[in-house]
Amino acid sequence: MASESRMAHIATTIPVRNVQALAASGPEELTAEALERYIRPDIDQEAVLVGQGDEVPVIDLGRLLSKESVEEEASKLKFACEEWGFFQLLNHGVPEDIIVNIKRDIREFFQLPLEVKNAYAQRPGDLQGYGQAYVVSNDQKLDWADMFAIMTQPPEARNMRHWPTQPRTFRKSIEEYSFEVGKLAHSIVTFIGNTLKIDPGLLSDIYAVQALRMNYYPPCNSMPEKVLGFSPHSDGSFLTILLQINSVEGLQIRRHGAWIPVKPRPDTLLVNVGDFLEILSNGKYKSIEHRVTINAHCERLSVSAFHNPKFDGVVSPAVSAATHQKVFYKTVNVNEYFKHHMSNKLDGKRALDHAKAFQI
Ligand code: OGA
Ligand code: NI
Repeated sequence: MASESRMAHIATTIPVRNVQALAASGPEELTAEALERYIRPDIDQEAVLVGQGDEVPVIDLGRLLSKESVEEEASKLKFACEEWGFFQLLNHGVPEDIIVNIKRDIREFFQLPLEVKNAYAQRPGDLQGYGQAYVVSNDQKLDWADMFAIMTQPPEARNMRHWPTQPRTFRKSIEEYSFEVGKLAHSIVTFIGNTLKIDPGLLSDIYAVQALRMNYYPPCNSMPEKVLGFSPHSDGSFLTILLQINSVEGLQIRRHGAWIPVKPRPDTLLVNVGDFLEILSNGKYKSIEHRVTINAHCERLSVSAFHNPKFDGVVSPAVSAATHQKVFYKTVNVNEYFKHHMSNKLDGKRALDHAKAFQI
């Protein structure tokens, strides 16, 4: 398929060791030398704020869908997008059994023997499959995690070769979860569009392409505070919806120069503003940097659903000429943006810099 092949050749990544296997190995393999690629000496210099009452806002989709409460909840949504770039979505409407199934199958997939998972290993030039992303040099620091990525929407973007047949129910759970979360993205984007007073016609193509990234963060008992599961980055998506599969903490978001841990809430999905929404909103809604830390004893699992613009389009700030608003971003060619984002190591929000017309 055209859209799939464009995805396949968008970027490449250097193959790296399987981290789950490394973490499970004995001291003879888990040497200081083996760990060296993962250890970041400068990590603890950055402040982490815990329990200071600063928590990611909670938005209730049920209240957005009800005439009586929509106005009040929409203003909370606007505040969350402006001030946080992240929110926890309550009453999201994705059926409980679909969540239970995807969680179970992702857990089971990562528990399979390495040689079974490796049947889905990434191939050169393709970021789909089992492996890692953003590895561009042999001396950069590596993330303490394995991931599994696939294109899921629209259906013609799929390449079933990457879709696991083990566990047996996995394809069905992915299909159902992908569909439900895609519907949910539609409804969130509609409400976000309203808060920005954006013409709904500008929104339809901007979140239609969905990719799932399943993340497995093994414990690291030798030096958990010196490694990261995911380097600081902002998402190169329009909107991301994250499901935390177990209740192990790890995700932190950058806020006012410090890192704030996000407490997993099993009754919510975590939604965040991606780089393309920052561009479309002309910087009103910011795509916020986040990272994942590692636990000494417990594994952590999550699945991100990235909703992206069509690869062959462009995205520009939605400002009306009549308002004489200053425009802060250039028109971005989506394909080029992805290439740029995926061919570099993660470095905070650097990928967005080349979309800026002026410094804000
Ligand atoms: C991502 C991401 C966070 C997590 O997939 O882009 O930031 O908690 N994941 O796994
Ligand atoms: Ni992310």
